[in-house]
Amino acid sequence: MSDCRICQHSLELVCDFGRMPIANGFLSPDQFATEYFFPLQLAWCPQCCMTQLVEQPAPDAMFHGAYPFFTGSSLRMRQHFGDLAATLQRRWLDGIADPFVVELGSNDGTYLENFSVQKIRHCGIEPSGNVADVARAKGVTTQRTFFSSAVARDLLAANGPAHVISMANVLCHIPSLHDVFSGFATLLDSRGVVVIEDPYWPDIVRKTTYDQIYDEHVFYFSLTSMAHVAARHGLELIDAEPQWTHGGSMRCTLARRGAHSIAPAVQQLRAAETALGIGTRECYTQFAARCAVLRTRLRTLLAAHAAAGQRVAGYGATSKSTTILNYCGIGSDRIAYICDTTPLKQGKVSPGMHIPIRPHAEFAAQYPDVAVLFAWNHAEEILAKETAFTAGGGEWLHPFPDAAG
Ligand code: TYD
Repeated sequence: MSDCRICQHSLELVCDFGRMPIANGFLSPDQFATEYFFPLQLAWCPQCCMTQLVEQPAPDAMFHGAYPFFTGSSLRMRQHFGDLAATLQRRWLDGIADPFVVELGSNDGTYLENFSVQKIRHCGIEPSGNVADVARAKGVTTQRTFFSSAVARDLLAANGPAHVISMANVLCHIPSLHDVFSGFATLLDSRGVVVIEDPYWPDIVRKTTYDQIYDEHVFYFSLTSMAHVAARHGLELIDAEPQWTHGGSMRCTLARRGAHSIAPAVQQLRAAETALGIGTRECYTQFAARCAVLRTRLRTLLAAHAAAGQRVAGYGATSKSTTILNYCGIGSDRIAYICDTTPLKQGKVSPGMHIPIRPHAEFAAQYPDVAVLFAWNHAEEILAKETAFTAGGGEWLHPFPDAAG
């Protein structure tokens, strides 16, 4: 087993999900011959407690000119980023003469737009060209690159220190975590904050939502592991706030050591992690066993629907669904198509299992008998707008019963 990417201690295998394609690698039949696969294995470090992928494909296989994820495609996500901007502005920028805010993985500018309309100095860092272009068209200053300590030095030289550096569902994607934290330490104002939202590993454990585990997510943070990395760069956790996003995330606020007081939530949530057994081998072996149980459950349910002659569709061609479909070995004999509102995905097929992706109009034109809720993290929004499907006797199949609200 390889060494921990954070502290170089020897890793322990948690779960082997088998041969896996790129989660966002929706493709057309002429690309089948060159489809990329890698072994998806999750491991944890008994020393620093960081849960991580053993192997991750090269970044340019995952983030490229046509990254098909747009933050603004979900109404609730747009609201979430509007609320985040307002909260951070009120809490951390009040009274600062000419603040400077930075976002890593700024995508289509959904969050930074809230600052650009107020003429607040800002810079988005976004490696994927298509989404960066959408952000620029909205007037959001965007650099098309990966964030690094070198980029941080350039930003500091050009703009001075940053008062808020934030990122949502980004840090878990970055293998060179020490270099990125070193960049935070360089760029951050003496009283500035780094605000990080990522899927929260203890929530994944509690709900067994193993679909968060895919190529892009190299790290799965707990407060325990986050505090460990931060400490190595002179930073400390000063607040932690659970979020609904991505099926259960944590908003971690970091600052230079001693710069701010520490909110009581940090101690409370860390105690809950200890109670969950986050630092024990047993927690990980039990998680892996529960993943296998969920795989059997889904395969059995879909086989029963097929035997009964029922039409089954998937709802939301999420990245997460790639792990479910490939780990469970589910193809178009079980799920006829997956509907999705993202034009870039429509007309293509799902990575690995090659299930067709169709526009939402197809779902609405002739409802299937059963819809597998792959976009379960948006369940509230989806169930509210699909009342006709439900009222007509349509059945929702939730891949993670412990995550159903
Ligand atoms: P997302 O939540 O980002 O999941 P992941 O990070 O696993 O890709 O993606 C949601 C996907 O679901 C996206 O492709 C858009 C789609 N979607 C719909 O098709 N209809 C909807 O009502 C919503 C909310 C999302």
